[in-house]
Amino acid sequence: MSHTLAIIKPDAVGSGKAGKILAHVETAGFAIRALRLTRLDTAQAQAFYAVHEGRPFYDELVEFMTSGPVIPMVLEAENAVSRLRETIGATDPAEAAPGTVRKLYAESKGRNAIHASDSDTNAETEIAFFFSTHERLGL
Ligand code: CDP
Ligand code: MG
Repeated sequence: MSHTLAIIKPDAVGSGKAGKILAHVETAGFAIRALRLTRLDTAQAQAFYAVHEGRPFYDELVEFMTSGPVIPMVLEAENAVSRLRETIGATDPAEAAPGTVRKLYAESKGRNAIHASDSDTNAETEIAFFFSTHERLGL
C-alpha cells in the first residue's frame, strides 16, 4: 500500500461538496488515513505551491487557496499517487474525463475542487506539510 495527499479545495468545501468528494474517493478504493479541516494563511499557501512560484497563475492560486477552509487528507491504496491522479482527472475540468472528481465537481481550471500529489516524493513532502509525526504513525 502507498499513500498520497489530497486537499479538498475552498471552492468545493464552500459549496458543500466535501462529503460527495470523500464518498467518491472512498468508492474509488482509497482508505482515509488522516484528515482535518483547516485554513491556510498566505505564507503556508505560498510554501505549499512554491514549485509554481513565478507562474502567471501563482498569485491567484495562493489567493484562492487561502479564501476559505480546506480539507487535507492522506489517502491509502495500491499505487495511490497515480490512481488518485486518474480519479481526480485533468487540471482543467473541461478536459477531465467523464466521472472524474474534477469533471463532476470543479468550477474551472483554477477553482478545481481537489489537489493530489504528483509523485511519491512529493506525496511524502506534502503529507509532512499537513500532518505531524504523531498523525503519520502507522502510515
Ligand atoms: O493540480 P494539478 O497538479 O492538476 O495542476 P498543477 O499544474 O500542479 O497546478 C496547480 C494548481 O494551480 C491547479 O490545480 C490549479 O488550481 C492552478 N492552475 C491554474 O489556476 N491555472 C493554470 N494554468 C494551471 C494551474
Ligand atoms: Mg500539481
